Amino acid sequence: MKGYLDKVAYLQTWGCQMNVHDTEKIAGVLRGEGYLFTDKPEEAALIILNTCSIREKAEHKFMSRLGYFRRLKRKRPGLLIAVAGCIAQQEGERFLIDNQYVDFTFGPQNIVRLPELILKDMRKAAVDDNPALAETDLPAIRNDDTRAWVNIMYGCNNFCSYCVVPHTRGRERSRPVDSIVGEIKTLAALCCKEITLLGQNVNSYKDPSTRASFAELLEHVNAIEDIERVRFVTSHPKDLSQELICAIRDLPKVCEHIHLPLQSGSSKILSMMNRKYSYEDYRQKINLLREHIPGISITTDIIAGFPGETEQDHEDTLSALREIGFDGAFAFKYSRRPYTAAKEMDGQLDEQIKSERLKTILELQDDITDKINRRLKGQTIEILVEGVSASDPNHWTGRTRTNKIVNFTPEKSLEKGMLITVDITNSFRHSLQGRPQG
Ligand code: SAH
Ligand code: SF4
Ligand code: F3S
Repeated sequence: MKGYLDKVAYLQTWGCQMNVHDTEKIAGVLRGEGYLFTDKPEEAALIILNTCSIREKAEHKFMSRLGYFRRLKRKRPGLLIAVAGCIAQQEGERFLIDNQYVDFTFGPQNIVRLPELILKDMRKAAVDDNPALAETDLPAIRNDDTRAWVNIMYGCNNFCSYCVVPHTRGRERSRPVDSIVGEIKTLAALCCKEITLLGQNVNSYKDPSTRASFAELLEHVNAIEDIERVRFVTSHPKDLSQELICAIRDLPKVCEHIHLPLQSGSSKILSMMNRKYSYEDYRQKINLLREHIPGISITTDIIAGFPGETEQDHEDTLSALREIGFDGAFAFKYSRRPYTAAKEMDGQLDEQIKSERLKTILELQDDITDKINRRLKGQTIEILVEGVSASDPNHWTGRTRTNKIVNFTPEKSLEKGMLITVDITNSFRHSLQGRPQG
C-alpha cells in the first residue's frame, strides 16, 4: 500500500459529548507524540475507534465499521487498530480475544497511557479502574476554538436500572474547581466564547477538597473574563437544587436552558428504573424552574418500552409530554444492556411495540416543538455565530441562549464566535430562520 505515513492517525467517535471530548483528548495525546491526522482511514497507520455501548444499535454500528477496518488490515498488516471508549471498558480482555486483529484497547480512564500502548503494550486491554489516571489533565485538540467542552466530573453512581454507563465509566469523581477554572481561562485566552461543562450528573458535583457545589462552580466559571456563555449537561432531576435554579437565574453567562431527562411519565416505571423521583417530583422541579427563570428552555430524554411498561404507562408518558411542553426531546427504544438490572427484569417488550410507542412519542414531541418554535417568530434574539452551515454553504448558523439553532444569510462580514442579534423570520421543527439586525 502506498500513501500512508508512520505517524498518521484516523479517529472515529460514537456516543455522547463525553466521548466526543475524550476523542479530542486522544488527539491531544497523539499530537504530543508527533502524530498528524487524516479523515481517510486508508491512509492511516493507526486507527482509533472511540466506542459507545449505551444501546445495542450503537454497538452494531461500530462492529460493522470495525469489519471494514479488518479488511484494511488484511491488505496492510502493519496497520494498528485500537478500540477505546465504553465498549472497550465494558468488554475488557474479552474484546481482544474475540477480535484478534485489534491491537489494543483502552477505556475512558486510561487515555493517558496511549503513548506507552502504541510503543510496547500490544495485545493489551488497558481498562483499569484507576481514578488517578482519569483525573490527569490531558491536552485536547478541539475542532472549534469558539465553543469548548470541559469535564467537571467523571463516572456515575446512580445505577439507573437500564443504563450501562456506571459500568463503563466507573464511580463518580469530581475535578477540583481550580483545575476546571484554569482550563477555562486558557480556553478564554485562545478566543473561546462558550463553555459546556460536562458530567453524567453535574448536579452532584462536589469539589474534592473544598466541597464547593455545582452552583458555586458556576459562580467561578461565570466570573472568567471573555467567556460569554456557560452551558452544562446532564442534570439529574433528583439532584436539581433550589441553589442551582437560583444560580441559573442570577449568573448572567449561564444560559437559560436545561437538559433534564425525564425517561418516563409513569411513576411506577420511574421507580423500576431506579430514578429516585416520581413524576410529581419532576413536575414540581419544572414549575420551580419556570417560576424562577422565565423563558427557560427545557429538553429531555425518554425511553420507550421499558420492561413492564403497560399501555397506560406509555399514555402517562404522552400526557407528561403534553403537560410539560418540552422544547425538545431525545427518545429511544429501550435496549437491554449487559450488567444492568433491567436486562434481567420480567416483562421485556417486543421490538414492534417498542417501535410503535417510540413513533407516537416522536410525532407528539415534533408537534410540540413546532408549536413552541412558532411562537418565536417575530422575536429579536441574541445568537452566538457558529459559522457556515454544514448543509448549505450560503447559510450561516448560530445558537440562541436557549440552545435553538438559527440559520441566516450573512449580510456583512461575520466571524465565528460573534454575538449578534437576529429577527426570527420563520420556524421549523429543528431550527429557526433569522435575519441579522443591521
Ligand atoms: N447521564 C445522563 C445520560 C446518559 S445516557 C443522564 O442521566 O441523563 C443518555 C440517555 O440515553 C439517557 O438519558 C436515556 O434516555 C438513554 N438510555 C440510556 N440507557 C438506555 C437503554 N438501555 N435503552 C434506551 N435508552 C437508554
Ligand atoms: Fe446512566 Fe442514570 Fe447515570 Fe445517567 S444518571 S449515566 S442514565 S446511570
Ligand atoms: Fe457516552 Fe455511550 Fe459511554 S453515551 S458514556 S459513550 S456508553
